[in-house]
Amino acid sequence: MADGSAPGIKPISGGVHLGIEHESARKHVTGAATYTDDIPELPGTLHVAVRLSDRAHARILGMDLAKAKQAPGVHAVLTFDDVPGDGDIGPILPGDPVLAPDVVEYAGQAVVAVAAETLSQARAAARMVEVFYEDLPAVLTAQEAMEAESFVSPSLTFQRGDAAQAVASAPRRLSGTLEVGGQDHFYLESHIAYAIPKEDGDLLVHSSTQHPAEVQHAVAKVLGRPMHGIAVECRRMGGGFGGKESQPAQIACIAALLANATRRPVKFRMDRDDDMLMTGKRHDFHVRYDVGFDEDGRIQGMEMDLAGRCGMSLDLSNGVVDRAMFHADNAYYLPAARITGHRCKTHTVSNTAFRGFGGPQGVIAVEEVVDEIARSLGKDPLDVRRANLYGGPGRDVTPYGMPVEEPDILAELLDQIERDSDYRNRRTEIDAFNARNTVLKKGLAVTPVKFGISFTVKHLNQAAALVHVYTDGSVQVNHGGTEMGQGIHTKMAQIAAQEFQIDVDRVKVTASATDKVPNAPPTAASAGTDLNGQAVRLAVRTIKGRLADFLAEHCHTTPDKVEFRDNAVFAGNHAMTFPEVAKLAYLNRVSLSSTGHYATPRIWWDREKCEGRPFFYFSCGVAVTEALIDTLTGEYRFPRADVLHDCSGTINPAIDLGQVEGAFVQGLGWVTCEELWWDGQGRLRTHAPSTYKIPTSRTIPEDFRVTLYTARPNREDTVFRSKAIGEPPLMLGISAWLALKDAVAAVGGHKYPVHLDAPATPERVLLAVEDIKARMAAGG
Ligand code: MTE
Ligand code: HPA
Ligand code: MOS
Repeated sequence: MADGSAPGIKPISGGVHLGIEHESARKHVTGAATYTDDIPELPGTLHVAVRLSDRAHARILGMDLAKAKQAPGVHAVLTFDDVPGDGDIGPILPGDPVLAPDVVEYAGQAVVAVAAETLSQARAAARMVEVFYEDLPAVLTAQEAMEAESFVSPSLTFQRGDAAQAVASAPRRLSGTLEVGGQDHFYLESHIAYAIPKEDGDLLVHSSTQHPAEVQHAVAKVLGRPMHGIAVECRRMGGGFGGKESQPAQIACIAALLANATRRPVKFRMDRDDDMLMTGKRHDFHVRYDVGFDEDGRIQGMEMDLAGRCGMSLDLSNGVVDRAMFHADNAYYLPAARITGHRCKTHTVSNTAFRGFGGPQGVIAVEEVVDEIARSLGKDPLDVRRANLYGGPGRDVTPYGMPVEEPDILAELLDQIERDSDYRNRRTEIDAFNARNTVLKKGLAVTPVKFGISFTVKHLNQAAALVHVYTDGSVQVNHGGTEMGQGIHTKMAQIAAQEFQIDVDRVKVTASATDKVPNAPPTAASAGTDLNGQAVRLAVRTIKGRLADFLAEHCHTTPDKVEFRDNAVFAGNHAMTFPEVAKLAYLNRVSLSSTGHYATPRIWWDREKCEGRPFFYFSCGVAVTEALIDTLTGEYRFPRADVLHDCSGTINPAIDLGQVEGAFVQGLGWVTCEELWWDGQGRLRTHAPSTYKIPTSRTIPEDFRVTLYTARPNREDTVFRSKAIGEPPLMLGISAWLALKDAVAAVGGHKYPVHLDAPATPERVLLAVEDIKARMAAGG
């Protein structure tokens, strides 16, 4: 059998490396795409509302459910005590009760769930529930938790050399703190699950989830039933961004418990405010650092404490804070380092995965350090970044001991963006602009990203696929990944088309389903295509192998003489269309269906010893952003941003371009306009778009130049040598925050220190400007 990948890539309509449109693009824009809420409702379907705690930490003394139970249309009112199985659905360790038991641990926690004939009846009944609380002391912020030593799990340290000594003996030294805000996922489709009872008490659950297997596991657990009777399906999500990695379990469990109690189909579609109050977000961090460096700004030692606000439970926080630690070097070699991650327990919503999974918080911390070094030396931050880049003799191992095998890529990307963005000339122009203007000020910043690809929990780095060829030659692909808009189904169809050598429109990728491909990891860590693409490829190869063996015998040749090319199969001196081959194989009783399973090689991580090679490879990019601020109001715009991201070997350059653009803007939103604000009682007050500002078409840089770098196919044996793309470019948005900081610094002629926490909202920018003006007035 000829190998489709060697020596070159055979051309086929919609094959790999082609920028074909997303399989649902037209359906997305015409409204024809079916989301969970669009599935035609079965007769008798009930709707759900939940009663949320308005206390951060309190004992539940009692509840009065009588009025709610008697309210019109109500079929069930459930509390924790009504859970037939195990009521704790913590994804790693217990700590996440499906409904609050005797204590509430955050304002927004679900206490009571109601199912009624209409949504408004359910909401009205939920409001009739009376809960009697006794308030308990609450720890709200990461800093408070650090002082109280309140943690969801033990702190962890990466240590290389004697960092304290290296800092102390360096020619120069700086220390500081940084507050890094969280972020709401703001997927356009809020959380939703639709649970449908089947015979024997089994359930089919439609869930908007990045992790159907985890939803299946949690539903089985709360019902006290085996997993084999619970099927979970997801055709697509209207965005997940990490918010649908662990969180959908609770929504699905509530729907399942109510379906189980009423024997009716139950839909739980969350209202935006409830979604924002009840479900986890990106972790905010409190960062402290101490850094020693030389006159060139080259770091000699760094000590850093990263305190992540995990909220009331562990959820995925070990992995998130670990990933912040893994990225506290970003693109920079740290000869001596101590990096400690703290997992702060607070009485706030349990924070969770969000695009970058803690990585962005580590990256922004070290970017602040490098920026501060440059400012203290009066150097251009680009030069200090270059001085610290990985690369050169002995400068290619991370603080956790993993070799950076391709360090020069970072310098290459920086070289190209410095040229393409005309960085040096624009720096001069901006200085001239700032000298001319007193009210408006401009800033410029460049930041790189180096992001580790693989789940740091080794067993999650596996995937499976199920491929069927039908007798008409059409192909159905199912795989363990989920579609959240990132285009995984399109890429899987392209891979199957490429391998079979058939046009992509002969391939259909169907909804993710636990009864087609079981035990799949979440679609996360940007590894969806890497993992599932290989599994699809392996499944197709199994079928092709069977076809080649059969055709060799049938056509009196050898399997290696059977070639799949351009919608046809050539065997000896026979040529047949692909449908003819499918039909013939079927008539000769050849199996036309196969699974494939893939496990990422080379990776290991010993968390106890903090050593290993946690990532298969790194994905890198760079960005240059220009900011323009109004020093009288703090308002700002981004006149231009240049982004260059490594998408070498891309399966689909059009989709990857969209991923880079979207991730950059989402990162920009995180560090600029998106502010989560809790009051003194731990109540989130920004729980709707009226108060929580996501980036919009007007936030996007006016001159937005996004380029895919494609010069270096993956040195690792990934699917068609592609590189993961989903999360890494988010971190390039950090350049927008540093550009704002640079513009603020320009107010004082770059002579005064600037402190700008993230997000740099207009208020924060204005306060930072005022701070500089006050220093100038004081002559200090
Ligand atoms: N793109 C869209 N349109 N919607 C999403 O929800 N999630 C991001 C990223 N890109 C997301 C997205 C996150 S958090 C991850 S981990 C990856 O997609 C997951 O998909 P992949 O592994 O297939 O890239
Ligand atoms: N990234 C994203 N999701 C995850 C990870 C990770 O490293 N580990 C567990 N879930
Ligand atoms: Mo993405 S945060 O790994 O779902």
